[in-house]
Amino acid sequence: MTSMFPRSTFQLLALCLTLFSSSVWFFSSRTGGANGHSASYLHYGRAPPTPPADVNVNVDVTESAHDPIWDIQNRTLGFQKIYAISMPHRTDKRDFLALMALVSDLEIEFFDGVNGSEIHPTALPSFWSGEDGPGTIGCWRAHVDLYQKMVRERIQSALVLEDDADWDILIKAQMTEVARGTRYIQNATLPLHSPYGDNWDLLTVGHTGANNKPNKDQHYWLSKNDPTVIHPTRRTWGRTPDFSAPSLEGDYNRIIHEASKLTGTAGYAISLRGAARILYDQTMGQNARSIDTAMANICRRDPFGSPFCLSSYPMLFGRYRPAGPQDKDSDRRLSTNEAGGAVPQSKDIRTEAVSEFTVFPASLNVQRLLMSESVIPANDPDTDLLKEIDVSKAVLPRGKGVFVREGEYVEFNKILADRKKEEEAAQKSGGVKRDESVEIDARTEGQEKVDIEHRALRFRRMR
Ligand SMILES: *[C@@H]1O[C@H](CO)[C@@H](O)[C@H](O)[C@H]1NC(C)=O
Ligand SMILES: *[C@@H]1O[C@H](CO)[C@@H](O)[C@H](O)[C@H]1NC(C)=O
Ligand SMILES: *[C@@H]1O[C@H](CO)[C@@H](O)[C@H](O)[C@H]1NC(C)=O
Repeated sequence: MTSMFPRSTFQLLALCLTLFSSSVWFFSSRTGGANGHSASYLHYGRAPPTPPADVNVNVDVTESAHDPIWDIQNRTLGFQKIYAISMPHRTDKRDFLALMALVSDLEIEFFDGVNGSEIHPTALPSFWSGEDGPGTIGCWRAHVDLYQKMVRERIQSALVLEDDADWDILIKAQMTEVARGTRYIQNATLPLHSPYGDNWDLLTVGHTGANNKPNKDQHYWLSKNDPTVIHPTRRTWGRTPDFSAPSLEGDYNRIIHEASKLTGTAGYAISLRGAARILYDQTMGQNARSIDTAMANICRRDPFGSPFCLSSYPMLFGRYRPAGPQDKDSDRRLSTNEAGGAVPQSKDIRTEAVSEFTVFPASLNVQRLLMSESVIPANDPDTDLLKEIDVSKAVLPRGKGVFVREGEYVEFNKILADRKKEEEAAQKSGGVKRDESVEIDARTEGQEKVDIEHRALRFRRMR
């Protein structure tokens, strides 16, 4: 594979070192608490003092100092950019994101969302099989605009957030583990341009539910007893990987894996190659549909050969819901429920801000972090692994590579066996009957025969 991240190694080294030291200061300064130490964003115009030699990056330091993995400590998490897509008129949401980014030492650029009603009719996709309505098409256009920009400007990689995204304050440590996993799955070896390996398209780290590909032998990166993993009772969505292979079982495990289907686009990283491929698929490839479904389809089909989507399960980017009227949550006509389904927006007032699917969320801890506190309470102390965490000392567990053979998924093989029995029974008694409630990913490959005329008809209706 030719490299998609052309950049000089020298540049990378220099970046790595300077950024490393500034983020170190951020973490170590939190230990100071009330005794006057300030966080890295508070220089009062002066350069910060030299950071101490004992580095706290909340992960074990096994890679060498010049490994690009340490770029993940920088303000864009080792990507070239972090974009938050938000409607220009939602200045309220931009306030939250700006603060959350500051206290987690991230740098976010806003990217304007699109008012679907203002897209010129001739510019609408000629073949659309998504939900109709300006909200959905505007959302689609905003993501596609971003891919177009990346392609035009050769932006090597970007983390894309929706404007209600939330994340854990240990995000830099979490993403370092993600990189260890994505490198393992890609079988990446140094030298690398990207900290995450040089052979990826989409890192789906902010879904609301994802499947693995249980019907093939494959590699996983498995972190056991990770305190930033939400308990299974908090995973209120539909899609979940098949964890029934004995080596994957455990309530607080995180896996990095090849994704099959998934739901939701609150946060994902995309490479230039991935952006070009999705832009092609959604435009010249005639597969336009609401962006989350478009992405799920590409993940399932892998139309470009290599595994398109590498995922973290559970996800790393959750959702922030501020206190106040709930119909401010979404700029789409409909809101999404926890399972990713479209529901009418509620007019109710939320009395307390909530963060969904996170353990130590940036959003709910802005005040603590502005006070340089380092002990952060868990979002749901009843089920989260730790009741609180001291971010000045915490070290996330290091994952390891696990190889699982198709035959090891107990659940998957039971479903296959049951289905076979049913079909045999049905054949004996006449017609063939299938249990449609059981959905097996990837085996359904090929069933998606596209009806071009039907989709072109919908285009005419939209106009
Ligand atoms: C962080 O690292 C990436 C990858 O090396 C680089 O492209 C990006 O410019 C860096 N971000 C910042 C804020 O320097
Ligand atoms: C979107 O555009 C339509 C048509 O110009 C306009 O009526 C509507 O107010 C716009 N919505 C927003 C949120 O700007
Ligand atoms: C990586 O490649 C090496 C050499 O081709 C091979 O032996 C190894 O099994 C591969 N590892 C993974 C995780 O695919």
